[in-house]
Amino acid sequence: MKQLELSEWLLTQLMQGNFPARMPTHRRLYEAIRLAITEHILPAGARLPSTRSLSQDLRVSRNTILAAFEQLLDEGYVSAQTGSGTYVAYKQPDEFSNHSSPHPAAPSPITENLGLSKRGLAAAGSPSSHEVQPFTPGEDDYSGFPTMLWRRLLNRQWRAPQPELLDYGHEGGYLPLRTAIADYLRVSRAVNLSVDQVLITSGTQQSIDLCARLLTDEDDLAWVENPCYWAARRVLQVNGLKLHPVAVDAEGMAPSALDFQTNPHLIYTTPSHQYPKGMVMSYGRRRLLLDYAANRNAWIIEDDYDSEFRFEGRPISSLQGMDQHGRVLYLGTFSKVMYPGIRLGYLVVPPQLVTSFKNGLYELQRPGQVVIQAALADFIEEGHFATHIRRLRLIYGERRRLLQKALAPVASAGAKLSPVDSGLHMVVEFDADCDDVRVAKAAAKQGLRVYPLSNYGMGEPREKGLIIGYAYAATKDITQYGKILADVIQTALEA
Ligand SMILES: Cc1ncc(COP(=O)(O)O)c(C=O)c1O
Repeated sequence: MKQLELSEWLLTQLMQGNFPARMPTHRRLYEAIRLAITEHILPAGARLPSTRSLSQDLRVSRNTILAAFEQLLDEGYVSAQTGSGTYVAYKQPDEFSNHSSPHPAAPSPITENLGLSKRGLAAAGSPSSHEVQPFTPGEDDYSGFPTMLWRRLLNRQWRAPQPELLDYGHEGGYLPLRTAIADYLRVSRAVNLSVDQVLITSGTQQSIDLCARLLTDEDDLAWVENPCYWAARRVLQVNGLKLHPVAVDAEGMAPSALDFQTNPHLIYTTPSHQYPKGMVMSYGRRRLLLDYAANRNAWIIEDDYDSEFRFEGRPISSLQGMDQHGRVLYLGTFSKVMYPGIRLGYLVVPPQLVTSFKNGLYELQRPGQVVIQAALADFIEEGHFATHIRRLRLIYGERRRLLQKALAPVASAGAKLSPVDSGLHMVVEFDADCDDVRVAKAAAKQGLRVYPLSNYGMGEPREKGLIIGYAYAATKDITQYGKILADVIQTALEA
């Protein structure tokens, strides 16, 4: 089929296709192209028109075309060849898989057949793929990232790089960046630290991995919040730790008398903004955890992953700032404020652990990317970091407000919005007997990827609901998408 004919065929599909009334255009386009492929209107190996020409022919934005292409790519209907275009794949996917899932699949016999380790990672579901859907949790909006400025700062470092910038990262990372982070944390997060205690890592995943490797042995017990950040859980698990889920309530992690009888070596918690449910840990709970850790010689990992985005109330101080016994390891990330691919985060360790952690980081990871660390140090020192956070906070705050408003009607169907004073996602909670996986699938059919809360839980019964990210959807579209999602939720709960 010639390009013009294809465009006309797609246009007809877009206008006449049997789509739900408010399905987003990118999703309609995806469905139309998929139909063209499965019906062999576009045969295997055929080259898809360029996004530019399709955008002109169909009179929709290139971003819309790109989003449709991305999804086809993710699902294996097409393949992309750098610089040469997008082609219909020769082997079509047999079925839709729930790719990029935040929920590891159950271990399978495949692991053993392939001779892979029993740590469990090998069977962790399909590899994650780039998501371009409005409410995907963890997806940020990079369109406003100051790329020109960032390039200028990087170029400045490359113009006459000092030898130390081209070497491995020594001493826990580039000193000016560690200094800038220490200054920032002291003021904005009430972290109690000296520069020496700050280590630059390649993000939270690596920080947790380092803590697990350096502080625990196989079969040690780790408390995790229930529900919990699945990626943290995975890292702890593959390090051989036994996970003990601890319930959360309105005051954050809520260990019971039974929990206190176990003997955790490590406690992973998100006190400033419980992930995923969003509550702030109360002062009383903080004291309780800190005292318990001090008495039992347990380590606390404080994952402070999105405190930059606090929309209401006063900033929340860190748990680390209250720790008088050197039991807390404080983790932060640049994934949310800069971009996830920067792979930079930090770890603040108690003074007595500094040397061991610096050695561990060097021996296990051979850290590098010092040029990027230097550019980031300038970005913070010259005030761009603070400006960028202020800007993002306004944008995301507005998106949060609009989404809350659009989702308000779900209350009439018995759903409840969890607190959203900060961060980049919200949770709509359902009754315990609701099948949240089914609701998430219904939303996916409308082109809205949201995650079922039950996939973050451990044991039974699990809390039910949806985790909804609001950082990625454009402000102008969020109300429309929010209403579609509210409809999906209401319809599913009332069915
Ligand atoms: C609870 C939590 N911690 C940390 C991170 C960031 O991890 P990383 O620094 O590895 O990108 C995320 C990202 O979504 C998160 O949800």
